[in-house]
Amino acid sequence: MAQSSRVLGVGMYLPSRAVPNTELEQIKTLETTDEWIQQRTGIQSRHYVTNESGTDMAFEASKQALANASISADDIDFIIYATLSPDHYFPGNGCFLQDKLFGDRPVGALDVRNQCTGFLYSLAMADSLIKSGQYKHILVVGSEVHSRGLDFSKDGRAVTVLFGDGAGAAVVGPSSDDHPGILGHAMYAEGKHADALWLEYPCNAYDFFVSHEDLDSGVQYPKMNGRLVFKHATRRMVEVSKEVLEKTGKTVDDIDIVLFHQANLRINQMTASMLKIPEEKMVNTIQWTGNTTAATIPICMCEALRQGKMKENDLVLLCGFGAGFTWAASLLHW
Ligand code: ACO
Repeated sequence: MAQSSRVLGVGMYLPSRAVPNTELEQIKTLETTDEWIQQRTGIQSRHYVTNESGTDMAFEASKQALANASISADDIDFIIYATLSPDHYFPGNGCFLQDKLFGDRPVGALDVRNQCTGFLYSLAMADSLIKSGQYKHILVVGSEVHSRGLDFSKDGRAVTVLFGDGAGAAVVGPSSDDHPGILGHAMYAEGKHADALWLEYPCNAYDFFVSHEDLDSGVQYPKMNGRLVFKHATRRMVEVSKEVLEKTGKTVDDIDIVLFHQANLRINQMTASMLKIPEEKMVNTIQWTGNTTAATIPICMCEALRQGKMKENDLVLLCGFGAGFTWAASLLHW
């Protein structure tokens, strides 16, 4: 019988600089208010890096996840690193994290570029690699530095107020016979909506990687059709959650805790209500983290542990939606 796998431990890191809505309100070019942000998104604050890089944050989150899993870095034999905000265009951040964590010990490292569902796709890959016998302990990391690439003018305000910096990590490893571990996943992408939420430049798709004129007009900043994303997010998160439950022979009533991607508190409340999941089964961090993209779900797992809401063997639904569009869900026993 194939080895089953489980999440053995989680960790997180947020930069020390908290940026409340009231600070964004002070940026005159942004023309935003605390009231608008809280009403539309539920966000009160987020964190911005000062001198950290994405891999610096990933390193800290990983050390915490290793300690939480009670295993040594020497036991990790593969890294999967999800981010949409890599330190450099290439090589991938997994290579930088390998160096920080293991130095002279080479370890395989794969970068995943699936935006807000990056952690879920990575978890599914880790689960399969362990079940296939290829690796034993895999470090799955999501880390994002958004604040250095946001548009602090009025044009960018709808996107800018949503995002924060941070990292989350999980150690995935073999589960014992009496622990069912990770049960299943469902993952989708629909590229026809790519330009509803994207960072178009710099790019290799057109003749100019990026021109001076492009930069002057702000093409290097993320662009989003917020309403379209909102509409698709609720529909797809409901669909994919139902699919993963059906696939694993579970029902909504079996779920002990729900951890959704943190893009907008209203999306999560609406999705939970459409799935008939009581709000008290949900843990959200967006109020104080904003959207940390690939890091949101492991950060939520840390918070659920901290609150004592995610206990040994609990059935946990993880689900997210984001740029691509991509959407995914996983069901696991903690
Ligand atoms: N402050 C003040 N006013 C603002 C702001 C702001 N930060 N942003 C937009 N507005 C204004 C708009 O200009 C507009 O003004 P107008 O009526 O005079 O034209 C008005 O507010 C309404 O704008 P909408 O964009 O229609 O606002 P909406 O209610 O849709 O809320 C929001 C916007 C919060 C972005 C919402 O659409 C949303 O959350 N969408 C989903 C985001 C998401 O899930 N992203 C995916 C994850 S990210 C990833 O994958 C990388």
